[in-house]
Amino acid sequence: MLCQNCPEDIKVVLSEREALQLASSSMELARYDISNPMLYRHADFEDAAQHLSGPTFDRLRDFAYTGNEYGTFVLKGLPIDSYLSKTPVDGRRPSEKLSVSEAAAALVGCLIGEIFSYADEKDGLLIQNICPVQGQETLQENTGSAFLEYHTEDGFHPLPPDLLMLTCLRGDRTGKALTATASVTRALRHLDSHVVELLAKPNYEIKSSSSFGGSHYSRSVAILNNTGSDTGFIFDPSAMVAVDESSATAMRQLHEALKIETYGLCLEAGQAIIIDNTKACHARTGFIPFYDGLDRWLQRIFLTRRFSEYSSVLVPGTRMVDPTRAREIAA
Ligand SMILES: [Fe+2]
Repeated sequence: MLCQNCPEDIKVVLSEREALQLASSSMELARYDISNPMLYRHADFEDAAQHLSGPTFDRLRDFAYTGNEYGTFVLKGLPIDSYLSKTPVDGRRPSEKLSVSEAAAALVGCLIGEIFSYADEKDGLLIQNICPVQGQETLQENTGSAFLEYHTEDGFHPLPPDLLMLTCLRGDRTGKALTATASVTRALRHLDSHVVELLAKPNYEIKSSSSFGGSHYSRSVAILNNTGSDTGFIFDPSAMVAVDESSATAMRQLHEALKIETYGLCLEAGQAIIIDNTKACHARTGFIPFYDGLDRWLQRIFLTRRFSEYSSVLVPGTRMVDPTRAREIAA
């Protein structure tokens, strides 16, 4: 994957004052495992997030509504746990881990959307750990370490996230694992109008990823959800099959255009990338894990801007989407 450096105007470093505010609120709220959907108390986070003030926090609030042409925002200077345990070899949160990085992610999440999870993915955890898992190197999953193909997140699901945030707790020491995004807004500039028209037809069958275990989803989608100035997309060539050759060719052409418009970075501890999942797909270059407790470790949250649409399908008392209810609304 050829990847240009992320433009400077989408990278923001928290000022000392902003970082202190976020660190102090995160430590205050990190008193329990907030990734647990049965324990998470959203009102506390909402309340604390309202008190975060400063230009970076204002930019984040703006990003939720106005976005940018890259569909991407890079944030630096996030608090993480002062003592960080070994990178989990099974991709699960170590029981001794404090919740500082989780609390910071949830607080930033409150500025740009509403946090939620899927009950049938990764135990419904609201903050999920992304680490290489031995034996899963070649999977097209975040437990793998081979090149992770371009995709928007969970496009097969009737309620995919609008935004996702990946916070880095421990970077890849080899510098090889680049997290990259490519926006449909920029890619469309490379495509002819007849290709755009094909991509806007519901001629693509998309299937669920193995991270949803025994829960299977599939649906027919258009790649582009409209062809106007506010085009969004669903794109996952590893999980999508076109119904005919001309639709398949159009998908390949979009793929090539996205490759031209790919920007990324090797995330370091305390950095996060926030991705508008309706405007930008993401990918990761291949890297070599050592499985020695010091491998790359990210945490992921999903956010929606349409929480009222989700509220009827949540497991009561939680922010987890109930798979049975989700399938009912999709039917
Ligand atoms: Fe992903």
